[in-house]
Amino acid sequence: MAKKILVTGGTGYIGSHTVVVLQEAGYEVLIIDNLSNSSIDVIEGITRITGIRPVFEKVDCTDMDGMRAFFEKYPGIDGIIHFAASKSVNESVRKPLLYYRNNIVSLLNILELMPEFNVKGLVFSSSCTVYGEPDKNPIDEDAPIKPATSPYGNTKQINEEIIRDYIHSGAPIKSIILRYFNPIGAHPSAEIGELPIGEPQNLVPYITQTAIGIRPYLKVFGNDYNTPDGTCIRDFIDVMDLSRAHLVAMDRILEDKSDEKMEIFNLGTGRGVSVMELIRVFEKVTGKPLNYQIVGRREGDIEQIWANPEKANKVLGWKAETPLEETLTSAWKWQLKLRERGIM
Ligand code: WQD
Repeated sequence: MAKKILVTGGTGYIGSHTVVVLQEAGYEVLIIDNLSNSSIDVIEGITRITGIRPVFEKVDCTDMDGMRAFFEKYPGIDGIIHFAASKSVNESVRKPLLYYRNNIVSLLNILELMPEFNVKGLVFSSSCTVYGEPDKNPIDEDAPIKPATSPYGNTKQINEEIIRDYIHSGAPIKSIILRYFNPIGAHPSAEIGELPIGEPQNLVPYITQTAIGIRPYLKVFGNDYNTPDGTCIRDFIDVMDLSRAHLVAMDRILEDKSDEKMEIFNLGTGRGVSVMELIRVFEKVTGKPLNYQIVGRREGDIEQIWANPEKANKVLGWKAETPLEETLTSAWKWQLKLRERGIM
């Protein structure tokens, strides 16, 4: 019988792509999401890609009664991939308590319910933001955790500690923590992708919205950094590659491939790409010049960070393989699809 995976935040950006990958690998997928930052239409996109409609329940992970009712209604869940969280760095500075409540209480509820309902594995969405400004790049998993620069970042650090402490206490679960670098792009079918609400905060949605004419120009935040072209450097990882890592992580837990009860992996390409380089690749693949202006630095930005993904490459047998050109093509195709559907 197919193993059952609960994906929290499964209508969100990374969650929805991971649902597709899990379904295609033969898992039975159940989604919960409070739809605070995503649309129910995503379920249709998933269903069009895989031909399988995942179970969906509108549940808020901070609602313990709602969560318990969900586990009672759907017994036999083997693993959870926990994406559901608030994720805007900016908003977290303005609304810290919202971020602490959403991101901490959700995880506490899930951890408390796992043994009660005999759920064995947890794959947790963390972030390279836990490293702060690295002393050296590429950065591996043993690099020091720096004080968080935003409440959002702090919630990810605290979440990791909560999982570690709970497992250390002898909890009957296993967990893999995945630290994402900068996920971009969309499913190649353009049936699902990233759907930012309002003005995008992240680079690639801002680029595609500018290219299609929703935004007049992209503001490049600073070209006076200590990098070859003066703009910041990131490790941009294709969302489908990232999603596949979740599948491998879940397999690893459920097949007991490791003696470790908790493991941490960086998920990146291992290659640093500057903001200007990314713009150039986007212009090349779309054949459209992008309107941009160099403006002042954005507060809180890290100058340069990219992953050493060797541990994930070796231990998980996973590698980010999609060329940047292909990833940016998928992001652009998704933007065109949104226009075609009259969404944006
Ligand atoms: C990338 C680069 C910007 C927008 C990531 C996650 C974020 C958070 C932390 C993840 C930077 C520049 C951007 C624009 C620009 N949490 N930029 N003009 O800051 O690396 O954040 O890690 O867990 O959610 O995305 O990503 O896409 O915002 O910025 O010049 O309009 O692009 O200054 O150098 P960032 P980003």
